[in-house]
Amino acid sequence: MDSGKQITFPLLMSVGTAVIGSLQFGYNTGVINAPQKIIEGFINDTWYQRYEDQITKNSLTAIWSISVSIFSVGGILGSFSVGLFVNSLGRKNSMLMANILAFIAAALMGFSKMAGSWEMLIIGRFVVGLYSGLSTGFVPMYVGEVSPTSLRGALGTLHQLGIVVGILIAQVFGMEAIMGNENLWPLLLGFIFIPAVIQCVLLPLCPESPRFLLINRNEENKAKSVLKKLRGTTDVSADMQEMKEESRQMMREKKVTIKELVQSPLYRQPLIVAIILQLSQQLSGINAVFYYSTRIFEKAGVEQPVYATIGAGVVNTAFTVVSLFVVERAGRRSLHLLGLLGMAGSAVLMTIALALLDQLKWMSYLSIVAIFAFVAFFEIGPGPIPWFIVAELFSQGPRPSAIAIAGLSNWTANFIVGMCFQYVEELCGPYVFIIFTVLLLLFFIFTYFKVPETKGRTFDEITAGFRQTAVTGGEKHSPEELNSLGADSQL
Ligand code: GLC
Repeated sequence: MDSGKQITFPLLMSVGTAVIGSLQFGYNTGVINAPQKIIEGFINDTWYQRYEDQITKNSLTAIWSISVSIFSVGGILGSFSVGLFVNSLGRKNSMLMANILAFIAAALMGFSKMAGSWEMLIIGRFVVGLYSGLSTGFVPMYVGEVSPTSLRGALGTLHQLGIVVGILIAQVFGMEAIMGNENLWPLLLGFIFIPAVIQCVLLPLCPESPRFLLINRNEENKAKSVLKKLRGTTDVSADMQEMKEESRQMMREKKVTIKELVQSPLYRQPLIVAIILQLSQQLSGINAVFYYSTRIFEKAGVEQPVYATIGAGVVNTAFTVVSLFVVERAGRRSLHLLGLLGMAGSAVLMTIALALLDQLKWMSYLSIVAIFAFVAFFEIGPGPIPWFIVAELFSQGPRPSAIAIAGLSNWTANFIVGMCFQYVEELCGPYVFIIFTVLLLLFFIFTYFKVPETKGRTFDEITAGFRQTAVTGGEKHSPEELNSLGADSQL
C-alpha cells in the first residue's frame, strides 16, 4: 500500500484542528449580514442615550459600514504579519497564540451591548479581522506542510471547507428565530469564544510541522518521529529525503524577507502567479454575493431573500466538497479554469435576469439559478485553490513571505469589493455583474498561459520548474513545458 496516500488519524486531527481557524474566518465573514437592522437599532439607542438626540442616517450608515469593513482592514494587517510569527514560534504555536485575539474580540463584541458601546463592536471586528488574517496564512501553510504530496490539494481544500461551513453556520445562527434578534445578537457575535476554546484544547495534542522541525530547526529526530505518526508508517525515508533536498536548497536561499522576495528575479514568476490567483478569487465578485446577497435577491424580486441566501450557503458548501474529491484527479489548473469560465457564464445569466426583470416576472427564478451557479463554480476552483497553491509554489525559505504578500493582495481586494460594490451597483444598475464577467475572462486568459499544474509534484519539483524558467527567460515555455522542466530537474 502506498503510504503517501494514507489518511491517518493524527493527520486528520492536525488538519481538522487547524481549520477551526478557517471556520472562525468564515463565521465572521457571514455573521454581520443578517442582523444588520437589529444592530443598527442598538447603535441608534446608544446614540440617543448618550446625546439625547436621534442619530442621523449618514452617521448610522458610516458607523455600520466601518463595523463591516474594518474586519478586512484587520485581515490585511494580520495576513501581512504572518512571517513575524511562523519562523520564531513555529506553525503550531503561532496558531495557538492567535487565539488570544479571538478571546479579546469575543469579549469586546459580546459585551458591547451591555456596556452600551458600539466602539467596542468596531474594535472587536478589527481584532477578529486580525485573527482571521493570520489564520488565512497559518492554516494553509501548516496544512500544506503536514500533508503528503498526493493529498496536499484535497487537504488544502479543507481550509476553504472550514471557511464555507463557518459562513453557513453564521447564516443559520443569524436567523431571527435563533440568535439574530434584539436579545441574543451579542451572543451571536461572542460565539467565536467556543471554537477558540476547542482549538486551544486540541492544538497542544497536534504535532508541529515536520518541515519546520527539519528545515528551520534542524531537529531531524523530532521531524522523523512526527512524520512516522502523520504517515502511519515507520518508513518515512522518501519524505525525509525530499525534505532534506529542500533543506539543502534552503542553505543557499536562507530565509527570504518580503523585500528580497519582491526584488529577486528568481521568485518573480511564482509571485506574480500567486498574486493574480488571489485577485482572481476576490475580484470574481464572490463577496458581492456573500456580503449583499439578501439585497441582491430582494432587488431581483425573490420573495424569501433570507432563505435564498442560506441556499447560496448550502450550494457553496456542497461544491467545496465536490472540489475536495476531484482536485487530486483533475488538477488545480483545469479546475481553476473551469471555475472562472463557469462564473463568467453565470454572471452573464445574472445580468440578463436583472435586466429583464421588469418585463418577465419569472426572471427572479433565473437570478436564483444564476447566483447558485456562480457560487458553485467559484467553489470548484477559484475558492479553494488560490489559498493552498501559494504554499505549493514556494519552498520553505520564501514561503512565509510569499504567503504574507498573497494574503495582503487577497484581503485588500476583499476590502475594495466590500466597500465599492454598493456604490458601483447604484451607478451601473443591472449591469454591475458585467464588470466581473470581464475580469473573470481576463483571469481565465492569465491562468491558461501562466499557471503551471502543481498536482502530484513535490515542493522541490515545483520550484525547480520556476527556477528553470527564471534561468531560460521563461516567456518561451508553456505551463506543460514547465511541468516537464520541473520533473526533469529531479533526474
Ligand atoms: C473564499 C474567500 C472569502 C469568501 C469565501 C466564500 O474563502 O477568500 O473571501 O468569502 O471564499 O466561500
